Amino acid sequence: MRLDGRVALITGGGSGIGAATARAFTREGARVVIADIDEAAGKAVADEIAASGATIDFRHADASDPTALEELVAFAVDTHGGLDVLHNNHVSFESGRIGDLTLDGFRRSLDVGLTSYWYAIKLALVPMLAAGRGSIVNTASVSGLAGDFGLGAYNVLKAGVVNLSRVTGIEYARKGVRCNAVCPGPIATPPIDRLHDAAPRIWDDIRDAIPMGRYGRAEEIANVVLFLASDESSFITGSHIVADGGLWAHSGMPPIGGLGPDF
Ligand SMILES: NC(=O)c1ccc[n+]([C@@H]2O[C@H](COP(=O)([O-])OP(=O)(O)OC[C@H]3O[C@@H](n4cnc5c(N)ncnc54)[C@H](O)[C@@H]3O)[C@@H](O)[C@H]2O)c1
Repeated sequence: MRLDGRVALITGGGSGIGAATARAFTREGARVVIADIDEAAGKAVADEIAASGATIDFRHADASDPTALEELVAFAVDTHGGLDVLHNNHVSFESGRIGDLTLDGFRRSLDVGLTSYWYAIKLALVPMLAAGRGSIVNTASVSGLAGDFGLGAYNVLKAGVVNLSRVTGIEYARKGVRCNAVCPGPIATPPIDRLHDAAPRIWDDIRDAIPMGRYGRAEEIANVVLFLASDESSFITGSHIVADGGLWAHSGMPPIGGLGPDF
């Protein structure tokens, strides 16, 4: 098993990509702690996984609260004797054009989606450096590599996550701790399901912009996180992997001469 005996902490583990990653990690032998601000969702995921015989704990926590992060890392170390994998994954942010964002909303977006990733890394580095091994995987986004209309705060925080992963990767490369990011494209998780219900036309447009012509599945991102968390990616650090059905590879130019994705 690819994570046999490893201890992993996943933030935002109560839904979508985090929950799929918790399933993948436990399937591969890890003991997992998931944290989520949504108590019912996190508990349901943990109960479902525990029913398969895996070792998983749910902690009800706001990962943007430094004290909560300190307690989470301490819980993992005290309960399981160490911390081998950190998967920073939670997010919330303000939407709107750059000129319409609020000062509080912008600050809060960066606090939740970027500063807390850094602080969790800072805390996780202590047991990882003591053990001389560790893998940190941050959920960024293709939205951290380019801009989206109306998602400015998200674009900025995810770009920060990409570069946070780079600098962490290089600074600890000789200490046995790796750090990488995964950059998903549009994935069919609850936020995208809500978009489908609220604005089906936009949901269709996004799907059609993806060269593969479909949304990704949370499991398809969890597989990338699993790879980056495991020793199979032992020579990869400070890097990011795009998993987006080809979206990021497209320049954005409309089809020329009638040639489109169905050609
Ligand atoms: N779904 C996509 O299309 C997509 C694309 C690119 C990147 N991502 C990224 O993937 C990650 C997971 O997104 P998802 O689509 O699985 O969303 P999701 O809403 O299904 O899951 C996110 C989870 O994070 C939890 N959460 C939010 N704020 C929290 C906090 N402060 N502390 C603890 N938990 C908190 C939520 O309660 C939720 O359970 C995010 O970082 C998101 O930006 C998603």
